[in-house]
Amino acid sequence: MEPMTRQPIFCVRAVPVYGDLILAPMDGYSDLPFRALCAEFGAAMAYTEFVSVDSLSRRSEPDPITARKLQFDPRESPKVIQIYGHDEDRLVETAQRLQDAGPDIIDLNLGCYVRKIAERGAGSGMLRDPAKIARVFARLTRALRVPVTAKIRLGWDERTRNYLEVARILEENGASLIAVHARTKAQGYTGVVDWNAIAEIKRAVKIPVLGNGDVKTVADIARIKAQTGCDGVMIGRAAIGNPWIFARTDRAHIAPAERIALMRRHLARHLEFYGAPNGLVLFRKHAYRYVQFGHGAAALRHALMLCDDVRAFERLLDEYARGLEKNNAPANAL
Ligand SMILES: Cc1cc2nc3c(=O)[nH]c(=O)nc-3n(C[C@H](O)[C@H](O)[C@H](O)COP(=O)(O)O)c2cc1C
Repeated sequence: MEPMTRQPIFCVRAVPVYGDLILAPMDGYSDLPFRALCAEFGAAMAYTEFVSVDSLSRRSEPDPITARKLQFDPRESPKVIQIYGHDEDRLVETAQRLQDAGPDIIDLNLGCYVRKIAERGAGSGMLRDPAKIARVFARLTRALRVPVTAKIRLGWDERTRNYLEVARILEENGASLIAVHARTKAQGYTGVVDWNAIAEIKRAVKIPVLGNGDVKTVADIARIKAQTGCDGVMIGRAAIGNPWIFARTDRAHIAPAERIALMRRHLARHLEFYGAPNGLVLFRKHAYRYVQFGHGAAALRHALMLCDDVRAFERLLDEYARGLEKNNAPANAL
């Protein structure tokens, strides 16, 4: 039980968020096992992988892969479903139906840069049409019981950085939070991330703002907060293979044995959620990120990537841990 005195760091309309570190939505990564693990380490909020409203609106029941994306761990709070799509009616109708899956918040993706999504006018494609953003948010916030939020980029490209206009439109049309990946669509993941733009958005709106983009270390968390005044810090890639960041500990300070132990625990959750052998196959990309540095790491990574047997996978981890112990390996040896 939480002590009665615990104060939320910010609220998404009436939904309290009890911390300032947020796991980013990441297709292929921010599934139930990973979100639950990150929550254990201190992530105060996490988003599902994005879900296409087109795939949902065509059927009365979601396909098995989408259905799995819509499941939550009972300990997750708040529960956030992220959707994307270009068709206004379908966005509203599907979001209404998705409320039955029990989310506390529904987020609309206005940042995805993948060509076939953006060029159809979904994801970051919607940034090119602020009037459509206004219509969609006005309708969504009127139609849904739960608060609606947005995840944006700074604009389509360098010449059309319309993030302030978009942020104001979102707020005026009822959005309850804006998460900002401080790059344009054209940048993809390259070039410099512009945290100053997050600061401008924070000054321009009253709703909570999450700062996102290239937060890699505990020091970066303090830096982005100081530079932008953001209410929360959203972390994506740097959390993969590194849930300790949500406990404000850099992975270099985690003993190798502890890392191996966590990998095993994460794998066990994967197997429980996805079943074998799928759970192992899907876990391998996480394993790749847990094992990044140090003597023997490349060989271990290679062996793990090829392994499709759970027992053999665990044996590889055990042998590696024993080797590290025998050699008294330093903390950053994995
Ligand atoms: C593998 C991967 C999948 C992603 N999937 C999504 C997604 O489904 N929805 C979304 O809004 N952003 C998605 N993103 C973007 C992240 O949420 C985040 O904005 C971006 O990675 C920048 O933050 P970072 O520097 O902390 O990684 C994805 C990013 C990666 C690397």
